[in-house]
Amino acid sequence: MQYHLSTFGCQMNEHDSERMKGVLEGIGYREAAEQDDADLILFNTCTIRGSADERFLGNLGHAKRIKRERPDTIVAIGGCWAQAQKEVVFEQFPFVDIAFGPGEVSRLGELVARERLDAVGAFSFDGEFSGSLPAKRTRVHQAWVQISVGCNCVCAYCIVPTVRGKERSRPLDAVVDEIERLVADGVREVTLLGQNVNSYGRDLPRDDRATFAELLRAVAGLEGVSRVRYTSPHPKDMKRDVITAMAECPEVCEHLHLPVQSGSTSVLKRMRRTYSRERYLDLVGRLRETIPDISLTTDIIVGFPGETDSDFLDTMSLVEECQYDGAYTFVYSERPGTEAADAMEDDVPEDVKKERIGALVELVQSQGRERAQRFVGTTREVLVEGPSRTDPDRLRGRLSQNIAVNFSGTAEAGTLVPVRIDRATSVTLAGSLVEVAVPN
Ligand code: 5AD
Ligand code: SF4
Repeated sequence: MQYHLSTFGCQMNEHDSERMKGVLEGIGYREAAEQDDADLILFNTCTIRGSADERFLGNLGHAKRIKRERPDTIVAIGGCWAQAQKEVVFEQFPFVDIAFGPGEVSRLGELVARERLDAVGAFSFDGEFSGSLPAKRTRVHQAWVQISVGCNCVCAYCIVPTVRGKERSRPLDAVVDEIERLVADGVREVTLLGQNVNSYGRDLPRDDRATFAELLRAVAGLEGVSRVRYTSPHPKDMKRDVITAMAECPEVCEHLHLPVQSGSTSVLKRMRRTYSRERYLDLVGRLRETIPDISLTTDIIVGFPGETDSDFLDTMSLVEECQYDGAYTFVYSERPGTEAADAMEDDVPEDVKKERIGALVELVQSQGRERAQRFVGTTREVLVEGPSRTDPDRLRGRLSQNIAVNFSGTAEAGTLVPVRIDRATSVTLAGSLVEVAVPN
């Protein structure tokens, strides 16, 4: 029996997909290269913006055709889109056999076995952490580690709390156990994952309670862990103890993805982000003061209901002030069931949204290009990931600042090596390995 899995969306979905593969291979399935060869066609879906839905629905058409030709094929849809569409999925897509939400990854094996009887759905929020399931990892030396699921925020634009439920933290011991196993398996870099990663621990029972800063220190201190990253934090929970832990643990990377969403305090207020422009800038100032070499990236939405020209200019000036190394930029997309969709009018005209995103993308790109120049002429520690994708004679790795570098030289994947940076193109650096003299 063979399965084919297509993944959409964020790193949490990438992580869940590795677990889905682990579960399926545990019950005897093998991975097929093409949907056409598969007995089970599985999708792990995203629904964060309308464009995510459209991309997935475009793909679903092919599965429908296969099902028509080979009615024995199982079509299964997991993830956030499935959760959001749980009331209508089987009605609107009668060729779908299984649908399950992000909280039910652990039941995939059981659902596949039961499907033969009837179409089945599973949509609870309190299933087993997918982080505790077997995984088929795609990267040898890097791993995602789930530390929490769900989100207690009420950002007006966001569908995530609806599809991933309330926040639940995984006990610190379980996280540490998993990382020790990963290290034994060759992993050197871990990325701690949660929808709101730095509010970790508040929901744990009193005896087990731990803060995100404590978790960060515990993970950084584990034998064999060279690098720790985490994503995504919320600015409101970026407290002093977390910044200090980052500064004091050399294993914790000098990179922070710190979503700002808007540079206008009045937009931030209507978004229910719970911080102002000033408080965000103050936080960035403290981060740069404590960790001078930190690279910052962010998420920004343009065209939120009621966004004026002056609000948008506030976003542009905030980007200039923050000096981001990169940013994901999005046009606001109305998501049914969110506060913004229910109570606010999507009133920024399409052409204005387009104009704003164009100007913002240009600014972000030129800033990123300029910022990358600061590495040229310096020697940096690089975690070797493997051969370069474009030139197999060169190697590929990443700086602590999460910037990719292609370089010449010989080094083993999974090791930290010094690389002299010679050039910076828009998004990647180029350099050469610095040979370290080994005393004999
Ligand atoms: N429209 C546009 N962008 C959105 N995001 C979340 N919800 C929406 C939406 N309705 C963006 C935010 C978030 C990122 C993952 O996606 O910037 O940080
Ligand atoms: Fe998409 Fe959000 Fe779900 Fe990730 S959590 S897959 S971004 S809807």
